[in-house]
Amino acid sequence: MKKILLSGVKPTGRPHICNYFGAMKQFVNLQDSYQSFIFLANYHALTGTEDAKVMEKDTLDLAIDYLAIGLDPKKTTIFLQSDVPEVTELAWIFNCITTMPYLARAHAYKDAVGKNKEVNVGTFDYPILMAADILIQDADVVPVGADQKQHVEYARDTAEKFNRIFGHEFKLPEPLILEEVKTVVGTDGRKMSKSYGNTIELFADDQEIRSSIMSIPTDSRGVDEAKNPEGCNVFALHKLFSSEELPEIKKRYLDGKIGYKESKDLLIENIIKLVAPLRARRAEIVKSPDDVKKILRDGGDIARERARAKMLGVRKKTGLII
Ligand code: ADP
Ligand code: TRP
Repeated sequence: MKKILLSGVKPTGRPHICNYFGAMKQFVNLQDSYQSFIFLANYHALTGTEDAKVMEKDTLDLAIDYLAIGLDPKKTTIFLQSDVPEVTELAWIFNCITTMPYLARAHAYKDAVGKNKEVNVGTFDYPILMAADILIQDADVVPVGADQKQHVEYARDTAEKFNRIFGHEFKLPEPLILEEVKTVVGTDGRKMSKSYGNTIELFADDQEIRSSIMSIPTDSRGVDEAKNPEGCNVFALHKLFSSEELPEIKKRYLDGKIGYKESKDLLIENIIKLVAPLRARRAEIVKSPDDVKKILRDGGDIARERARAKMLGVRKKTGLII
């Protein structure tokens, strides 16, 4: 029996290379070893979007992206979160055993408060819906970027609390975080994130890739001067895209045998090498949106069936069925 893997990504704008290395690529690598469930977290995306057209477009685009990077619907159940509305019921039940101070400690909520935003209840309750996503499918492992680790801990805590109060129902999930891509930097040296506008889009064309890499600030060291690779944002990206040549590039940095211009050119070449076949596959898939929607519907049926079965146990344990 394979262990169960589950993860989700919000359909909010175009994925960037850190979404790819931090999360998406793992889904593809792991789909042979696990019984895999990957969903588009459109309920979660609603905490930050009020435009239905944008939501529809981003959702279909993201489904196409997943297929383009190699997620195989024969191996992975791919679905829309909203096709499993049982998660909102489970989130409600979890809400009733969760305290406000506990949720107020979540990093994402504190960040939202720190930005002086009017925080909606959905944002406050975000970790509980995520716990429901994970626990309703009996997930053993949840591959995510490091920034989502706390959310997986909320899911574990919530599972434990429910089991303690109502009797054993939920497995305790483990986060799966790749050390080397913990937090990948963006073009400005801060964590790459859509909210900082410092991203390199995964499906960017050659010209867009070139201009984002060329815009990365570097220090003023000349071609012949020794450079510190660890302090260089271009080198940080080489770690993702230039693994074979990495020792050589590092040596040239230390020996003052490479200029930033050449380093950037090399990086651009390697990014294009990786991205071009994904782009080509995407261009094919985008021609058949109905096939993509069918994959999501079929995946939704499977995920919903499992969720219904799980909710039967939850409803019995909580006294909702008489
Ligand atoms: P963003 O921060 O750009 O809005 P999301 O929050 O949509 O990205 O993240 C989607 C997935 O990609 C999450 O699993 C997240 O951990 C991962 N991820 C995002 N940014 C990075 C990064 N800079 N380094 C590593 N992983 C990342
Ligand atoms: N919060 C995750 C993110 O921002 C998306 C997500 C929602 C998720 N539900 C999940 C990830 C369940 C893993 C498991 O990227």
